Amino acid sequence: MNRKMFLGVLASTVVIAGSTFYLASDTSNFTREDIKTKKTRKLSLSADEEEIMFLASLAPSGHNAQPWFIKYIEPYHWIICNDKTRWLPAVDPHQRETILSIGAFIQNLEFAASSLGYKSDFTLLATTNQDEHVMKVALTKTDYKTKYYIQKIKQRRTVRANYLNKPLKVEDLNYLLSGEFDVFNFIPNTDSNYQIINEQTIESNKLQSYRNPAERELANWIRFSSSEAEKKRDGLTTASMDISGIPGWVVRNFYDKASVMDNKFREQNISNVIKQVSQSAGWMLITSKDNSVASLIETGKQMQRLFLKVHDKNIAMHPMSQILEEPTTLASINQLLGINENIQFMLRIGYVKEYPNPVSLRRAVDKIVQI
Ligand SMILES: Cc1cc2nc3c(=O)[nH]c(=O)nc-3n(C[C@H](O)[C@H](O)[C@H](O)COP(=O)(O)O)c2cc1C
Repeated sequence: MNRKMFLGVLASTVVIAGSTFYLASDTSNFTREDIKTKKTRKLSLSADEEEIMFLASLAPSGHNAQPWFIKYIEPYHWIICNDKTRWLPAVDPHQRETILSIGAFIQNLEFAASSLGYKSDFTLLATTNQDEHVMKVALTKTDYKTKYYIQKIKQRRTVRANYLNKPLKVEDLNYLLSGEFDVFNFIPNTDSNYQIINEQTIESNKLQSYRNPAERELANWIRFSSSEAEKKRDGLTTASMDISGIPGWVVRNFYDKASVMDNKFREQNISNVIKQVSQSAGWMLITSKDNSVASLIETGKQMQRLFLKVHDKNIAMHPMSQILEEPTTLASINQLLGINENIQFMLRIGYVKEYPNPVSLRRAVDKIVQI
């Protein structure tokens, strides 16, 4: 073999070895539509009960930890519970976000039940954010169905990328605010408070990215490979973090918990946040009168009602909670913004050209119900 032939053979060998390696690797993001089995064991639930629980579980939650489960008392009579094994102590030490997420779950449950023709009667059981039994629910059949919610619940998602800076149309803003004027506070990107929230969001993300317990907790909720994502069906995946293409492939195949603790990963997160906050129509803040369990559940429900509406107007929404999670930024934010009420959510919102499909995963219903 002469030198030219040798180099040719070598190059083809490298290409073949490379393609074989690529084909054997984790080649694509695992998303909600890749879930094959919706059920893993036979449940003694009616089809309606199972559907209502499934739709409730599509609620958002911090790190997609899904901090809920259902105790089944009898048909159509359940207790919605707080799952302490799914708390996020490093960023949510008082389980404020856990209860907000359970509020969103309860709102989905109520809408899902009414879509299938059931009226929900709720009784609050929890007096602290840590109580296991949060809310009792009894469903009774009615003659009335509000069908349109099911698709909205299925289509809702957190969008993190590609926001436009276009201002919100007055009629769209009125649609979002309708019925909730007292607790929703929209800060358009022309307002001086908008700049303050952007700066504080960047600052709090810097603090949190270099706070090791918070970063370690994040690492524990990232599902790096598709097989891990498929097995656990919770947490943050490359798809839900909007990491696709070659970067997604690199993360799925070569990253692990230790990579998240690396400064390169922390800096990448901070640059993503800088880019994200530079794109939006503004911030929607949701406040509450106090921090009682009842108020947090109501605020979680209000947030979810907004989340289910935004898609109608091609508006994306992204909760960014770091200001409220980092003690330093939390201590000064009310004064900086001139707001007296308790801020429970800071939501970046804006139009998008194309609305992406939902990709985040949920555990199967049989994993969230105890019969
Ligand atoms: C209380 C709460 C806090 C959240 N905080 C953040 C946040 O700080 N940053 C972020 O990117 N997403 C945040 N999210 C969005 C979740 O990560 C998201 O809901 C979850 O990953 C499931 O994805 P989905 O909303 O697309 O179904 C938050 C959600 C809730 C309910």
